[in-house]
Amino acid sequence: MTGPKLAPLHTIPPDLCTLDDYADRAQAHMDPAVWRHVQEGAGREITLRRNREVFDSIGLLPRGLADVSGSTRIELLGRTHAAPIMLAPLAYQRLAHSDGELAVVRAATAMDTGMVLSTLSSVTLEDVAAAAQALTAQGEQAGPSLWFQLYQQPQRENTLALVRRAEAAGYEAIVLTIDAGLKPAGISLPDGVAAANLAGMPRPRHTATPGGRILMGTSLTNGVPGWPDLAWLRAATTLPIIVKGLLLGEDAARAVDEGVDALIVSNHGGRVLDGVPSAMEVLPAIAEATGNRIPLLLDGGVRSGTDVIKALALGARAVLIGRPQMHALAVAGMPGVAHMLHILRTELEAAMVQLGCPQPGMIGPERLISF
Ligand code: FNR
Repeated sequence: MTGPKLAPLHTIPPDLCTLDDYADRAQAHMDPAVWRHVQEGAGREITLRRNREVFDSIGLLPRGLADVSGSTRIELLGRTHAAPIMLAPLAYQRLAHSDGELAVVRAATAMDTGMVLSTLSSVTLEDVAAAAQALTAQGEQAGPSLWFQLYQQPQRENTLALVRRAEAAGYEAIVLTIDAGLKPAGISLPDGVAAANLAGMPRPRHTATPGGRILMGTSLTNGVPGWPDLAWLRAATTLPIIVKGLLLGEDAARAVDEGVDALIVSNHGGRVLDGVPSAMEVLPAIAEATGNRIPLLLDGGVRSGTDVIKALALGARAVLIGRPQMHALAVAGMPGVAHMLHILRTELEAAMVQLGCPQPGMIGPERLISF
């Protein structure tokens, strides 16, 4: 792509009909460095590619002549959700649009869709919650679930301060991301974009001292959470805790034993350890190991209503959407994100009807065939 970055659109052009259409458009609306940062995966991007390949290698087997009256609604952690779709935590959404997380939470509220706000949000968690409340105060609905995604901080008092702020602002759950204690240094942030929640807190370093130890035995590994940190968090809050990023059945079973309320099966969009399988591939083993004791959510590569169906069929209660948020934000801000969610919901409903499974709970592995 060459030429100047296009401004966000104010109206949605009629040729934007799928999430892939948004992805195709988005590059022209982003700085090249931001586009690369959003799209990239770790290493040789084997895992990033696999996240899509696995969805495409699964086919669907419809039941004909079925009664198709139903709804996309699901129950999750004591709340009804309009559909089994949520917004994944994404750092620094103001990279894609000046309204950043405020645009996303307004779209989430308009579409009654749960949102997970990143620790590395470029708008404070209080301002995001206030924006949702301002919109719901005007309507009659309860508003969407807001969950807070927690990155463990180098000092425990700062981790605790984030949890207390999330509780005070009305977030309904804490999502502890455990797979990114060490990740490649990110994009250098332009002026006006910062980790708003972490103002005044020391930040983890991302590079080793030249000539010193490379990694092990340096403070670079301090941010990697362990089981004692999870136990500490469990004792520190009464909010539901959702762990994001476990990929092994035995770890998932232990997390349940430690009092975790749900899991997000995820490889962080293929951005951390290249070579791990897609969440879809490990979901059945995690479902087996946790034996229906807690809900399982999944993310990585979900781009259409039929992808949502495939994840539900393998045992997910709901899915989360990552990069398409940034694409839709860059193209058209809040209306773009709301439209992106609308597309996904419409595709999901159509696919449920066509499949003869008009309730999420009716979608099981017998509806799948491998290609
Ligand atoms: C992420 N992800 C992420 N996860 C998290 O727990 N905290 C975070 O701050 C971020 N930040 C972030 C930034 C960007 C630009 C991307 C693309 C991803 C991971 C995210 O929550 C989710 O797991 C993946 O994005 C899901 O994959 P898809 O939908 O992008 O394929």
